[in-house]
Amino acid sequence: MAGLVESIGKNVTRFAPGDKVFGETFTELQWRNGGAFAEYVSVPQDALALKPNGITFEQAAAVPTSGFIALHNLQNEGQIQPGQSVLINGAGGGVGTIAVQLAKAYGARVTGVDSTKKLEMVRSLGADHVIDYTQEDFTQRGECYDLILDIASNLSFSGCKRALTLTGTYVLIGHDHFGDVGSRTFGSLPHFFKIVALSPFVSQLPDLSFSIPNKKDIMALLAEFLEAGKLTPVIDRTYPLSEVPEAMRYLQAGHARGKIIITP
Ligand SMILES: NC(=O)c1ccc[n+]([C@@H]2O[C@H](COP(=O)([O-])OP(=O)(O)OC[C@H]3O[C@@H](n4cnc5c(N)ncnc54)[C@H](OP(=O)(O)O)[C@@H]3O)[C@@H](O)[C@H]2O)c1
Repeated sequence: MAGLVESIGKNVTRFAPGDKVFGETFTELQWRNGGAFAEYVSVPQDALALKPNGITFEQAAAVPTSGFIALHNLQNEGQIQPGQSVLINGAGGGVGTIAVQLAKAYGARVTGVDSTKKLEMVRSLGADHVIDYTQEDFTQRGECYDLILDIASNLSFSGCKRALTLTGTYVLIGHDHFGDVGSRTFGSLPHFFKIVALSPFVSQLPDLSFSIPNKKDIMALLAEFLEAGKLTPVIDRTYPLSEVPEAMRYLQAGHARGKIIITP
């Protein structure tokens, strides 16, 4: 979410009423708290950063959660390095559109995989190459990548190994599919647990620490990328608060380009 600080608690030192901020409504695990379909939210200061000038509140609101997921997984799990070859599977969605831009900002060569209608947009975000998943299975191409970010979470690790360099890393991001695209009973959970079980024994899987990354630092870094023009949020549609059910139906259909935004 993004907005104006209306009032602050007695221990708040980083922000003052009137500040323009963006961030998340929770600091720890997503399923414990959170939610921002509201005109007012009560948030911990360390989940926020000052909104960069030149970015609208709508654009800023598009960044925190997806940006956090993209940045944490590229940086901490994927250990992205300049010059690396990075493949982003699901590059045209909420997390993917941010991951493509951040990977470019880190100096990687980026290949984005998504469906036909999203490829031009993925290219416009800076992807060096795009692959249409409806036409081609990139794991059969004979090309190898240093990092595969599996946001769509439809890939098997054994398939991805063919497309990884010997020192490459496979990072599974998607933990579930919702709505019309959520056809599997347990979503991505069996896949996720398999990866967790294999990770201590396989060098191409990151060590999963389950530690909660520092949200304050990640928000500050996302603000820097926005400020520097290295990250431009992609907004598919904007809905007023009164139309949240309609917005959710659209999101659940699973074909949004980038993010959808709720405005007060
Ligand atoms: N968004 C967040 O803030 C957030 C936070 C935490 C975790 N996650 C997890 O991250 C995952 C993705 O979230 P998201 O918000 O980015 O979803 P999204 O906006 O629906 O994006 C997913 C993208 O993957 C594409 N896709 C579908 N099937 C594919 C395939 N077989 N191969 C390659 N690409 C494919 C979709 O394109 P088409 O369907 O149009 O073809 C879409 O562009 C979910 O599992 C979600 O639970 C998201």
